[in-house]
Amino acid sequence: MKKPMHILKADQFDRNFLAYLFELTDNIRRLDKSKEGQMYLQSLLNHKRAMLYFTQPSTRTFMSFQSACHILGIKSLEIRDSSTSSERKGESVEDSLQTFSSYVDLIIMRSPIAGLCDKMAQLLNSTHRPVPIINAGSGPDQHPTQALLDMYTLNRSFRKSGGFKGKTIALVGDLKRGRTVRSLSQLLMQYEGVKLLFVSPEEFKIGADLRTQLAEAPGLSFEETSNFKAAIGAADAIYMTRVQDEYDLSGESKKIDTKEFHLRLEHLPLLKKDCVIMHPFPRRDEIDPRVDQDPRAKYWRQERNGMWTRVALITNILGVDNRIIMPEL
Ligand code: CP
Repeated sequence: MKKPMHILKADQFDRNFLAYLFELTDNIRRLDKSKEGQMYLQSLLNHKRAMLYFTQPSTRTFMSFQSACHILGIKSLEIRDSSTSSERKGESVEDSLQTFSSYVDLIIMRSPIAGLCDKMAQLLNSTHRPVPIINAGSGPDQHPTQALLDMYTLNRSFRKSGGFKGKTIALVGDLKRGRTVRSLSQLLMQYEGVKLLFVSPEEFKIGADLRTQLAEAPGLSFEETSNFKAAIGAADAIYMTRVQDEYDLSGESKKIDTKEFHLRLEHLPLLKKDCVIMHPFPRRDEIDPRVDQDPRAKYWRQERNGMWTRVALITNILGVDNRIIMPEL
């Protein structure tokens, strides 16, 4: 499987790559079940270093990437606040990124600025040390590795029921500014026979760019609706998301009532027997914590799948995925 230089956007992946990544992730999980397997994984990249440059808040993406590095023996360095770096002294983000590339073999970055990762990848490509960049979330536009772990979770959940074909997936919440929804939708577009229901208040409907891409995707159908109960009743998977009010200009989200788009205990009888309930997290009140006890709630597994999927992705981008071939270890 050809390795990508950088991971920037969800739509850079095709179905073949996804199928390969799912299998690679399964094999890594099998290896991790024994001490010998864990030591083998740790030996694969213990000569490498990675920079985690996260200038926007994160819990699980940061921790799962850091854990993924540790699983593979990679030493990780971090900046989580640009005011603690020489950016505080006026250094440009371009110079900062190029500086990281002097010391490490991989840069994993999260930024509030849409498109910054692409710009930095182009810049590094023109230098003497073009280390790979992984986009760990870029403003409201992309979160490609979240989409990969979401697809891995969906793929595992749909295995016994014939895969993605014929499945209805409801995506709920702030669809306008939710980067996870955009990235996941771009991957789901690759699967014929999938139906997407975009469920939101009028103010949080998907952006025109995504609507155009969806309309052009062959074999996929989609609807936009504000009828939460009907949508969750029809869905094989429900992907809940929070209001992305960090992108508010003046607290405008507070004026929008999202209560009728929250999943509560009383909704559970409406759901299909094998419905998969997901959320990229963090959550606020989109899902009542008591729903966690329902066997259809998969968001805690989804979160852990993020670590395994990121291990697989790093082995691929750093060129050692061909050594994940001995699940019997
Ligand atoms: N899903 C996600 O990106 O979570 P964090 O913001 O905690 O990393």
